[in-house]
Amino acid sequence: MAVIGVFDSGSGGLSVLREIRKILPDERYIYFSDNAYCPYGEKTAEFVTARSRAVTDLLLSKGAAAVVVACNTATAAAIATLRAEYDIPFVGMEPAVKPAASGTRNGVVGVLATAGTLKAAKYLNIKGQYADAVRIEERVGKGFVELVESMDLDSPHAESVVRGSLQPLLDAGADTIVLGCTHYPFLLPLMRRIAPGGIRFIDPAPAVARRLADVLGMAGIPLKDSAPGVELLASGPDTTLKKLFTIL
Ligand code: DGL
Repeated sequence: MAVIGVFDSGSGGLSVLREIRKILPDERYIYFSDNAYCPYGEKTAEFVTARSRAVTDLLLSKGAAAVVVACNTATAAAIATLRAEYDIPFVGMEPAVKPAASGTRNGVVGVLATAGTLKAAKYLNIKGQYADAVRIEERVGKGFVELVESMDLDSPHAESVVRGSLQPLLDAGADTIVLGCTHYPFLLPLMRRIAPGGIRFIDPAPAVARRLADVLGMAGIPLKDSAPGVELLASGPDTTLKKLFTIL
């Protein structure tokens, strides 16, 4: 029975699970929100790695045959360690700087991500590859994760929090904005309202879903052999997780 584990520091990874289920609708998933320890973005790489191990152990104990690290921060901090320590495939997130760099019309790309992601070697390497071709402006989405975790996706308060990090990127001239944290797609309707028409937002989740399908195939993990569905688990209260799941 092949179960696919998916985890994030909170409910943000549901934005990835949504894309995965569009192309692999008949699988069985266990989604784990580590919200007792959320946000990961301000924690040390060591702490995030320790949590990623603990969550992986739990997903394995529930039969996961592969794990999607549906969190940019945990991918940057921990995926190399997870791959070295466990004998199952892991699929992680990567800020979509490459498609942004090839899609920008004016050569200015904005990246919204957590502090942990923006200082990680993984991101700095990607950025280094495109730094000659485009100008990259970055901002931490300050308070964005908290908005999503409290299901505040559309209030005047949410708008001012989102504007606080998005506006400087727009002011710097970015015409393409990379969503470098899996919580941020839930704030996309708000971001689209704030940003002038013509600004493109890029979410890597559809590419991650395609990558998962390839990885499962390469690893020979059988598809469609379990009752399809999603089990939602959390290390803290699961109210937001369940609510967000219903509006996916
Ligand atoms: N959703 C996560 C990410 O993609 C982490 C957010 C956080 O816990 O800070 O980076």
